[in-house]
Amino acid sequence: MLDLRNRFPGVVEGVYQGWARFDGPAGTQVVDAAIEASGNWQRSGRNANSHGAFPAADDCDQLVDRVSATMGRLLHADPYGFVFGPSTTANVFSLTRAIARDLGPGDEIICTRLDHDSNVAPWLLIGEDTGATVHLAPFDVATGRLPVDSITGLLSERTRWVAVTGASNAIGTKPDIAAITKAAHDAGAKVVVDGVHLTPHTTVDLGAIGCDVYSTSSYKWYGPHAGITWIEPGLLDRLRPYKVRPADDTGAGRFMLGTPAYEQLVAIEAAAEFLMSVGMASIHEYERAVFAHLLDGLRADERVTIYGPTNLDDRAPTLAFNVEGHTAAEVATALAARQIAVWDGNYYAVEAMASFGIDAAVRAGIALYVDRTDVDRLIDAVHRL
Ligand SMILES: Cc1ncc(COP(=O)(O)O)c(C=O)c1O
Repeated sequence: MLDLRNRFPGVVEGVYQGWARFDGPAGTQVVDAAIEASGNWQRSGRNANSHGAFPAADDCDQLVDRVSATMGRLLHADPYGFVFGPSTTANVFSLTRAIARDLGPGDEIICTRLDHDSNVAPWLLIGEDTGATVHLAPFDVATGRLPVDSITGLLSERTRWVAVTGASNAIGTKPDIAAITKAAHDAGAKVVVDGVHLTPHTTVDLGAIGCDVYSTSSYKWYGPHAGITWIEPGLLDRLRPYKVRPADDTGAGRFMLGTPAYEQLVAIEAAAEFLMSVGMASIHEYERAVFAHLLDGLRADERVTIYGPTNLDDRAPTLAFNVEGHTAAEVATALAARQIAVWDGNYYAVEAMASFGIDAAVRAGIALYVDRTDVDRLIDAVHRL
């Protein structure tokens, strides 16, 4: 069994020491190596800018290349395609803004009702701006699964883009993105995967998935607040992003608006190295065991409704639930009184919550610093409500 709690100062030392942190899906605690990397960088004198004629500027350029290579190893992808930005939401808006320049009436886009709104709203907005039609593929509300044919049924020769999540940030389910990508490619469409909730919990092999764009946010996997979007190299150079004229005309630099946040990049590198040193297979196994305990405990309480699947198959270790007789906010507040952090609301998965016919649910997710004793506390606190 992994025991990595001591790697997280915010868990074992900070003012919230002693809290059970089920709020990882909203943002995890930061691993020691990432905190130190950022401080060390800023103390080192290397902080400069890119493309200068002195060594510190070279250090900045080399850092961007190094972090791209590290992300390439983490996600099994060509390092050339990595764009670093402030958040996935900002990156997807930049991407869709570029895509919109080549769209018009008659073109079609497929999004899903399982996705976080950052992979829905940007597409709806370019639909409004260009006259392209945006379809929203439903998921099966009874099972929480998004079957491949929910998307393939909407594909046509007019489909240009498919936007789909790698894992739901609300209920954890993982659509078969490799099969969806294959079907979309066969129809001549490109695929944008929101990997924000998938990346922290499983091995991601972009070569095997085959998608054209993949986004992840390092603050969901023990790193700093930043968004990382991989764009397939050929597509990256073909798209026409909004950018300042002196910025690079090819490569990821054309999507990186302004000076990169070097102090974040160095922390992204450390967090990604941390994931790889623990091993995604070990992370998956650890989280699955702790999550199984959570599922069992909540399923045993007949006042609890769990949305989506109640088994362990093809999912991230995240669930959404409500407790009969209590609002989600009341449950979250009662748990907070016992030093248990959960989220309540829709977590921007607005279409998913609407599909379940609810405005809000309580969300609990497993991270590497959450263990069975935390789960026991959560279950006990829910039973006492
Ligand atoms: C699945 C998913 N996609 C996208 C986002 C947005 O990420 P960011 O805050 O980096 O814009 C989130 C954030 O919660 C998320 O969970």
